[in-house]
Amino acid sequence: MLSSDSPAVWERVPWRGCRAMLPRVNGVRFTRIRSSDLGRIELQGATMDRIKIIGGQRLEGSIPISGAKNAALPLMIAALLTSERLTLKNMPNLADVAILARILRNHGVDHSIEGKRAQPASPMGETYHLTARDIVDTTAPYEMVSRMRASFWVLGPLVARCGQARVSMPGGCAIGTRPIDMHLVAMKALGAEIDIDGGYIVARAPKGLRGGRIIFTKVSVGATHAALLAASLARGETVIENAAREPEIGDVALCLTKMGATIEGIGSSTLRIQGRDRLEGATHTVLPDRIETGTFAMAVAATGGDVVLEGTRRHLLDTALDALVATGAEVTDTENGIRVRRNGKGIEPLSIETQPFPGFPTDLQAQFMALMTRAGGTSVIRETIFENRFMHVQELARLGAEIQLHGDAATIKGVKRLTGAQVMATDLRASVSLVIAGLMADGETMINRVYHLDRGFEHLEEKLTGVGAQIERLTG
Ligand code: UD1
Repeated sequence: MLSSDSPAVWERVPWRGCRAMLPRVNGVRFTRIRSSDLGRIELQGATMDRIKIIGGQRLEGSIPISGAKNAALPLMIAALLTSERLTLKNMPNLADVAILARILRNHGVDHSIEGKRAQPASPMGETYHLTARDIVDTTAPYEMVSRMRASFWVLGPLVARCGQARVSMPGGCAIGTRPIDMHLVAMKALGAEIDIDGGYIVARAPKGLRGGRIIFTKVSVGATHAALLAASLARGETVIENAAREPEIGDVALCLTKMGATIEGIGSSTLRIQGRDRLEGATHTVLPDRIETGTFAMAVAATGGDVVLEGTRRHLLDTALDALVATGAEVTDTENGIRVRRNGKGIEPLSIETQPFPGFPTDLQAQFMALMTRAGGTSVIRETIFENRFMHVQELARLGAEIQLHGDAATIKGVKRLTGAQVMATDLRASVSLVIAGLMADGETMINRVYHLDRGFEHLEEKLTGVGAQIERLTG
């Protein structure tokens, strides 16, 4: 049991013949960690960190784009579906990925990492080998699932493989109530019996799952991932209607086809899956992170400058990039990515609303709002996906932004200047909007509680420093 209140430092070190992320507190390395300690040591290590930004620099150069977090997580969960090895290339080095690796290890997934990067901001991702030879535990406890919503998605694969699972109801970013009703609809359609017991979802299908027709009443990325993963190891055909079309769903579907499932309709809202009794191992490369791409593109549009985003693809975020162009930025394709420029011109106001893919992504809403705070006029941003995703508004106001909230809409009156201030990171995407605002602001901005950023942005400070930003992490 941890007893120190000092911050923990996480290190990747050799341990029992492999490499593991282990915490050191007050110089003592911990090799046995109870799950109840996990939240505490990670928070200790990260809540202390702050990010200091001196605004006003133009961004020039190139930034490598990492593998997509939102594909990496469900791809890791796909390892539960087979006793063979799943190799995932271009994995981003993120806190959420590390947390999920620990959760999967609890179920019996062997996990090793090769190809550690020579430089922190190198475009080469890490390669993960995941093998779930035997599932040793079908319970996903509250202490783990409450820390990352996507870990709830283990429910379907565990039932498909083992005939039962007991998974705590999820947590994650505090951006609304985020129900799980559609996940349960999907599991029932595949023949699972569902009970709720003490905050846990208990799912049983002693004879395994069977194909079925799943009709989603609302577009849900998570429920589509969960249904797709489970259906791949269910007997017979499953049809998913009103499926989410996010590129990460297509990436997972592609990996599942390599593992032996047959999936038609990839990229459309109707997916037809022929499940298999047994899935095989496979090797898959995670697609580039469109949210990271869009975030840096908006940072360049915000500060002015000329940056090449390497290793990404425009079609992953056409709507968001079109919006940037409408605000006065230039976006062009390069051989291996995209180039974003804004030289001299002011920022034009533009009203947008968030929509499921291919619409404007909710995960870029906060960043776009940061950009609009300096536009030469008024814009309106409507958030249609999550009901409580405006927590960045009060923090942006601390820098001098003028934003009025009314229901699901925010009206932003562009101001001539923002001024650096102390702000608090509230959720993952909101946090990075504060980074963009800090880069635009005069003087010093200090962002507290940056552990949210570490969940989804790999080497953020290094990548931004590399293109001329004045940004540094203050540890402890
Ligand atoms: C995923 C992404 C997240 C992104 C979101 C929307 C990952 C790891 N996370 O989250 O970054 O912001 O998609 O693009 O990929 N809903 C229900 N019932 C359900 C499930 C969802 O009503 O059973 C609702 C949610 O409350 C929300 C909407 O559906 O209003 C969309 O949520 P969903 O697409 O499921 O988001 P996540 O998968 O959690």
